[in-house]
Amino acid sequence: MSADINEDLKGRIAVILGAGSIAPGIGIGRAICMTLARRGAHVVALDNNLEAAEETAAQVAGEGGSAEASCVDVLDAQALKDQITTLGERLGRLDILHCNVGLGKSGPSENTTAEDWRRISDANLTSLHVASQAALVHMKPRGAGVITVTSSIAAIRHTGVPHLAYASTKAAANQFARALAVEVAPRGIRVNSIVAGLIDTPRIGVTLAGSYGDRSEAEMRASRDRQCPMGHMGSPWDIAEAAAFLASDRAAYITGTELVVDGGLSATIRQAVDE
Ligand SMILES: NC(=O)c1ccc[n+]([C@@H]2O[C@H](COP(=O)([O-])OP(=O)(O)OC[C@H]3O[C@@H](n4cnc5c(N)ncnc54)[C@H](O)[C@@H]3O)[C@@H](O)[C@H]2O)c1
Repeated sequence: MSADINEDLKGRIAVILGAGSIAPGIGIGRAICMTLARRGAHVVALDNNLEAAEETAAQVAGEGGSAEASCVDVLDAQALKDQITTLGERLGRLDILHCNVGLGKSGPSENTTAEDWRRISDANLTSLHVASQAALVHMKPRGAGVITVTSSIAAIRHTGVPHLAYASTKAAANQFARALAVEVAPRGIRVNSIVAGLIDTPRIGVTLAGSYGDRSEAEMRASRDRQCPMGHMGSPWDIAEAAAFLASDRAAYITGTELVVDGGLSATIRQAVDE
């Protein structure tokens, strides 16, 4: 293990799925890329929005880190598999896979069609299997590797906003990580999920618009702040720090579990969103 925390991922190859942000600013995937690169990893930023992935790689490079960007749609299983297979072959190793894509549809569940459900399920769950399967081909021969999933507090609690397909598939993602962890533990590979609480990312202004009644975006953000015991939502950097820790040898004996990063939210009983 490196003694210097800034160097603890030096020489590692990290592939991040959903490495951009759906709106300008720092999303969780972008923060993870920047944080892993600051610790010395070479980061491969993958996103279905190439421009967003390139923006992430540029931000990493701007800080003196090492990154590249490519386009991949996790809903295209063959393309996802091919992308990870090719990356592992070209770079000679693959140490860290972080699956960060998360799709959802908020609102009453009667409005979620079977097609919506399949798309959300494919993005939040099937892609974990496809990406991990391809990554494990590179990890197993080396007897090392880390797979981390960005999950959500919605996987374990009702957040106050109806989000059935998202919540169900994120819950399945937690169990995916646990079950795969046990399967690959004898091969020296660790798998965990991060249960992210309410996080202040550019996404919430897009995906949650309209989910908080007729409140403005600023009021929605203020309401989410009030929901959290600390009085404010988490930041993407809070999740990125957890991701970097789990990816490092400092977490060498941590596998098959969820790291809850929610500012104490899941320790509370239900609070009115609009109080
Ligand atoms: N923001 C929150 O409050 C919060 C809370 C808990 C968990 N999360 C989870 O954290 C993760 C990141 O959230 P964020 O808020 O930064 O959102 P975000 O939507 O900005 O980030 C997700 C990224 O995935 C990319 N993406 C979307 N569909 C894709 C596809 N088919 N193929 C490849 N890439 C695709 C998007 O372009 C985007 O760059 C998600 O899994 C989300 O569910 C977010």
